[in-house]
Amino acid sequence: MTRYLTFALAKGRIAKKTLSYLEQVGITCEEMKDPDTRKLIFCNEELKLKFFLAKATDVPTYVEYGAADIGVVGKDTIMEEGRKMYEVLDLGLGKCRMCVAGPESAKKVLESGEIIRVATKYPRIAKDYFYNKKHQTVEIIKLNGSIELAPIVGLSEVIVDIVETGSTLRENGLVVLEEICPLSARMVVNEVSMKMEHERINSLIKNLKEVLDKEKEHKS
Ligand code: PRP
Repeated sequence: MTRYLTFALAKGRIAKKTLSYLEQVGITCEEMKDPDTRKLIFCNEELKLKFFLAKATDVPTYVEYGAADIGVVGKDTIMEEGRKMYEVLDLGLGKCRMCVAGPESAKKVLESGEIIRVATKYPRIAKDYFYNKKHQTVEIIKLNGSIELAPIVGLSEVIVDIVETGSTLRENGLVVLEEICPLSARMVVNEVSMKMEHERINSLIKNLKEVLDKEKEHKS
């Protein structure tokens, strides 16, 4: 008997767009489209699939423990959570960049080798970047949102944060000082599921890749 494959999708725009990609490869979940539903988990009995929406930061946890076989979540969350799982596909959604930003004046301080303070929602990414890549000692201050405030009110010299359009930085008199890496939504797979269900999962990846390639072609 075929076992269910379970998907954990990061709530919001990523989930919506992922579901539309899945529809294009013949995977639908009608139940999930009801805007008034209070259900948390949705089934496609015919294809033996289950779907649930989770807070982005929890998606890697569900996948590592095998509560979900497959997850879709931003690369920022994948890097920050540092869970054991396979990253199998770049869905190209929600493209943005992880950057070091601050006032123009922070450029000099950043290069001076002085111990600076770095405010961020992503302490692990910031630590990895400054310690392992730049070999620079910094003090990392964890915040939970509105990170751009930190250098304005003097909590830190710089921030490590996501930059999408750049308008939040601009409107607050801040600039990108260094780019850490590009970001987008990725598909991740539990390590055991990948072995046990490799046929179903690989064919899904292959089909999705075709849809993504077609979309790329269409755009260019
Ligand atoms: C994110 C990020 C920046 C902003 C970047 O914040 O932390 O603040 O978006 O986007 P932009 O370059 O297009 O201006 P989010 O809105 O997710 O909320 P947060 O401040 O609570 O993290």
